[in-house]
Amino acid sequence: MTKDSSRAPGRPRRLRAALVLSAVGLLAVAGAVVLPGSASAATTLGASAAEQGGRYFGTAVAVNKLNDSAYTTILNREFNQVTAENEMKIDALQPQQGQFNFGNGDRLVQHARSRGMQVRGHTLAWHSQQPGWMQNMSGTTLRNAMLNHVTQVATHYRGQIAWWDVVNEAFQDGSSGARRDSNLQRTGNDWIEAAFRAARQADPNAQLCYNDYNIDNWTDAKTQAVYRMVQDFKNRGVPIDCVGLQSHFTGGSNYPGNYRTTLSSFAALGVDVHITELDIRNAPSDAYRNVVNDCLAVSRCKGITVWGIRDSDSWRSNESPLLFDGNGNKKAAYNAVLTALNSGNPGGGDPTPAPTTPAPGGCTATITPGQVWGDRYNTSVTVSGASTWSVVVVITAPQRISATWSGNPTWDGSGNVMTMRSNGSGNTFGFTTMMNGNSSARPQIRSCTVG
Ligand code: XIL
Repeated sequence: MTKDSSRAPGRPRRLRAALVLSAVGLLAVAGAVVLPGSASAATTLGASAAEQGGRYFGTAVAVNKLNDSAYTTILNREFNQVTAENEMKIDALQPQQGQFNFGNGDRLVQHARSRGMQVRGHTLAWHSQQPGWMQNMSGTTLRNAMLNHVTQVATHYRGQIAWWDVVNEAFQDGSSGARRDSNLQRTGNDWIEAAFRAARQADPNAQLCYNDYNIDNWTDAKTQAVYRMVQDFKNRGVPIDCVGLQSHFTGGSNYPGNYRTTLSSFAALGVDVHITELDIRNAPSDAYRNVVNDCLAVSRCKGITVWGIRDSDSWRSNESPLLFDGNGNKKAAYNAVLTALNSGNPGGGDPTPAPTTPAPGGCTATITPGQVWGDRYNTSVTVSGASTWSVVVVITAPQRISATWSGNPTWDGSGNVMTMRSNGSGNTFGFTTMMNGNSSARPQIRSCTVG
């Protein structure tokens, strides 16, 4: 604004001050609500995603590039979530059995958290990028070594990781719908749930995800097989919170027209969905725009991570699949993504609506966002399927619940996990959360239990 245009010539000083104050008041209100397509549209991917229901827009990060200032300039400006491209894989973290090397992972976590970016941990258990000592193991020895790795790593990063890819790529491609053969699979079909249970125990506040590629097309046998596993886990109480769709639309598979159905169908099982490793061969604007719109149309789609910043950073750099060119310039696909994020949810709600089928004998808790102020917001939760219940709600630190109503709350040691029990005042309870500097995170329901 120029000096001249900021002046209100001829108006008395006090009136001018009052006008400025009320404009500030309006801005404060505008900051708390989403104004699709308004002049206040966000100008970076992360800020824009945050305005869409507290979603994130993230990237894979190669930790050695944190020394490259062109790279970190884009990272710090555009993204509010990171995933270590390789540095938190098994071979990186435990190169020799019993010897952990957390240096690079810690560096990324420090870089991210000091800038308010959320961290996705990738990945605790996987057939690939295993250290040599693990590749040579089998049977109970391998099972125990895998579980020890999960426990040690999730404990080390306890409280710092928003989501863990607990298990990566455990299903076969093609029409079989079978598990992928691997040394881990040969330890017994229950290796996946064992990994999830160990992760939950080590870091009860992290959201635990199953992550895979080629599970984008709803009719593919692999997608259906993963869907049935997640459904089975939910029914049996195996602790799973989310599914990650890698979405490498390159080489073998393209963006499918039924992607939104896939996202909403997983979500209807009562898990969040994440697009975890997006890259698209030649970065067509249309496909990038469609992916964003599909995520925005599904309320449980919490965010999108692209698998690298510049084309030159990509593991498929010959396909130029990312949002920035090798010189760090924004590509057409970048503008398509930002515009789609800023224009809000064109799909107008979930095509396959949650709430979800409760587990037999279970109940369902559904969140309704309430009023938002500059420093805090309200949430209400409605329980169906039971008249006496306990619902576990998880808050992301540094956010803190400051008041509750219509239920009896108890807290875990961290103060981030609230168990709310019915107190006879109906099936809807509510609470106020102080943002404490994090305005994008929102509460999650971990479970609803009858009685
Ligand atoms: C890739 C990395 O980008 C490469 O640098 C590395 O050489 C191989 O792994 N699915 C995953 C990611 O879950 O971990 C992979 O990352 C890409 C495919």
